[in-house]
Amino acid sequence: MEALKTQLEENKQKYLDELFELLRIPSVSTDPSFSDDVFEAAEFVKKKLAAAGADEVELVATKGYPIVYGEKIIDPNLPTILVYGHYDVQPADPYDLWETPPFEPEIRNDSIYARGSCDDKGQMYMHIKAFEMMMEHDTLACNVKFMIEGEEEVGSKHLSKFVEENKDKLKADVVLISDTSMVSIETPSITAGLRGLSFLEVEVTGPNKDLHSGVYGGAVANPLNVLCEMIAKLKDDDNKVAIPGFYDDVEDVSQAERDEMASVAMDDEVYKRSLNVKELRGEAGYSTIERTAIRPTLDVNGMWGGYIKEGAKTVIGAKATAKISMRLVPHQDSTKIGALFTKYFKSLAPDSVTVKVSTFHGGEPYVTPIDSTAYKAASMAIEKTFGKRPVGIRSGGSIPITALFERVLGVKSILLGFGLDSDDIHSPNEHFGLFNFYKGIETIPYFFKYFAEITQKNN
Ligand code: BES
Ligand code: MN
Ligand code: MN
Repeated sequence: MEALKTQLEENKQKYLDELFELLRIPSVSTDPSFSDDVFEAAEFVKKKLAAAGADEVELVATKGYPIVYGEKIIDPNLPTILVYGHYDVQPADPYDLWETPPFEPEIRNDSIYARGSCDDKGQMYMHIKAFEMMMEHDTLACNVKFMIEGEEEVGSKHLSKFVEENKDKLKADVVLISDTSMVSIETPSITAGLRGLSFLEVEVTGPNKDLHSGVYGGAVANPLNVLCEMIAKLKDDDNKVAIPGFYDDVEDVSQAERDEMASVAMDDEVYKRSLNVKELRGEAGYSTIERTAIRPTLDVNGMWGGYIKEGAKTVIGAKATAKISMRLVPHQDSTKIGALFTKYFKSLAPDSVTVKVSTFHGGEPYVTPIDSTAYKAASMAIEKTFGKRPVGIRSGGSIPITALFERVLGVKSILLGFGLDSDDIHSPNEHFGLFNFYKGIETIPYFFKYFAEITQKNN
């Protein structure tokens, strides 16, 4: 393993240059105008995976963006690790809030600034480089399969079909994913749970055309006003979600786990200062970390209608639209929650408007057992390279495909993430610490090593 460390030291710049090349490709999966770039990013990943020494490397075409697959099977008696990651990114908007352009990576404050630097190109690329080092030094301790997709940020639309149709090909003992964050460099952690997601769009329609707000204002329900009133009824005074039945299946987390979370929680004052807000707001009876990790919630992600371009226009728009997401916790079902939302939301509508609710993607929450061989290997690997035993945490984000891996492949996922919550993923000025990038590359081979060792001991 010492040889790997030397190789990493000698190749730091090279690995970074390669990542920069990938970060320059604006692979925004949600916006069709970037379609060519998303395909180009897939090609790039394929090329690098093959160069690193993977066999059977291919781009699996889907109805959407391709899945990059590659594998190295060294011995059928050894355990197999399925590495999952994504090469697509979220839109970089609003561009004017970036200090340097989102697709022209730059190092500042010892961090890589670019869209996708942390989520997930930087973290995914750590695996390709770690694999390359293990191949070069002949220290690959497990079989490995790579599955890198280009539609994670749009709900992994076509990956589920690929997984269902390729159960044998994807057979593995564990799924390894670096697409989450740690508490901090000083408090390394492993994510043991992720929230699920139910995402909908609501459209409220009033009059049959846009109206002059002077000629008609005061006599007709304004769909935007009505939408605001309806949205205001989605939460009560305690900031609990007011949808009947919403909390029915929510898992009660034990006091022991709540205490462990509290021990690593950021101080509220620091949290407020980091966001420049005077007050925090969330469900009564829960701490900040609990509100973001073990409790479900509801947020409006976008809302428009009337006239939203530059300048004033005195108009009552005929329609108002909002995108609304609900983050879900274990045992809540995204389809059931979507239906409860739809029923309640429609019941809030006055006769002056009609309401249409459509569903975007959803995903189920995920928890990984912390007494498994894989979790132990991850814990040992982090302890080895960070010099500290990691704590188990739950994260508020979602990686819906983890629940599918469990359901379809019967395989648990290990969330070995090296980002930080302050990396501004999905926001302007996304960044990823150089320390984190290299630490990831250093840690991954230890996971392989320990996972092979403990698995064999258990057999
Ligand atoms: N990598 C994130 C998820 C994440 C981030 C988990 C930080 C834990 C900590 C992933 O790329 C993501 O953004 N997922 C989406 C869901 C998806 C269905 C669009 C999310 O959480 O909004
Ligand atoms: Mn991600
Ligand atoms: Mn993301």
